[in-house]
Amino acid sequence: MTAVVMMLSSCAAKEEPPHDPELLLGFSQLGTESAWRSGNSADIEKKAEENGVSLMLENANRKQENQIAAIRRFIAYQVDVIAFSPIVEEGWDNVLLEAKEAGIPVVLVDRDISTDKEGLISCHIGADFYQEGVMAGEYLLRKADRLKKDKLHIVEITGTEDSTPMRQRQAGFMDTISGDERMEVIESVNGDFLKSRGAECMRYLLEKYGEDIDVVYSHNDEMTLGALPEIEKAGLTPGDDMVIISIDGGQEAIDVLKRGRINCVVECTPMLGQELMDTAKKLKAGESVEAVIHPKEKYFSDEMDLSGLGPRGY
Ligand code: AHR
Repeated sequence: MTAVVMMLSSCAAKEEPPHDPELLLGFSQLGTESAWRSGNSADIEKKAEENGVSLMLENANRKQENQIAAIRRFIAYQVDVIAFSPIVEEGWDNVLLEAKEAGIPVVLVDRDISTDKEGLISCHIGADFYQEGVMAGEYLLRKADRLKKDKLHIVEITGTEDSTPMRQRQAGFMDTISGDERMEVIESVNGDFLKSRGAECMRYLLEKYGEDIDVVYSHNDEMTLGALPEIEKAGLTPGDDMVIISIDGGQEAIDVLKRGRINCVVECTPMLGQELMDTAKKLKAGESVEAVIHPKEKYFSDEMDLSGLGPRGY
């Protein structure tokens, strides 16, 4: 098992595990592309430990084939519950049919899948990405009122193509702003949720449109943090010359928002570990679970006093 990170938070060493010491949970994390992702893995490890759940955690290094191989290993180990964060929405039917045939329930964490097959997934625990896009769009409509501009040229830096957050954050944003004639999305580019790609995309957009860009809508903090230095290198001040809207709400982006270089950050919480442990325990006990669990999320913006905001934890 070369590329496998196997973390057995065995409860055998614990005097009195709080819940089910026999629960073995296989979790395929899609990668380590962002502070969000690292925070999500850390939270799941911590909650497994606290709940006395034995966790097999595998990192797929952003490759769908690695996630499929990990799920097959979980089936071979006969884990009690399989969980995974699918990097993209399509292409899971075969392996999930194998899990179903093996009688192992599957939980989606963070992202969703697209399938027309019944009964492959027991529960999806993750953000309402569409609503995040709506919050970003609603902020921009309010900002446009304050700026009193007739036209706002928007560039969008999207997350990984065909992933749920990419699709839903784009749809929620577009549905919210498209009825407003001041709003014009001049280009949308794929930044793959990576800081380096955020920088590359921003360089390309600045070369093409320069000061004509009024708004940058970036699908995650990592890409935003990559884009900001490029805007500064071009002699412009982000947050002032350009409206910057980001998603995730990690500590670094919130700090930059407080300094006025980002205007709005929509929260996407990676703290999904406790819901996952509760759901896995119920599934093992044969209890029913909710089909979809969305955490409550909010946004932070230059309209607010953020001085009392506590540490973000990711
Ligand atoms: O699926 C959640 C997204 O994936 C987060 O917004 C991003 O930072 C991560 O890479």
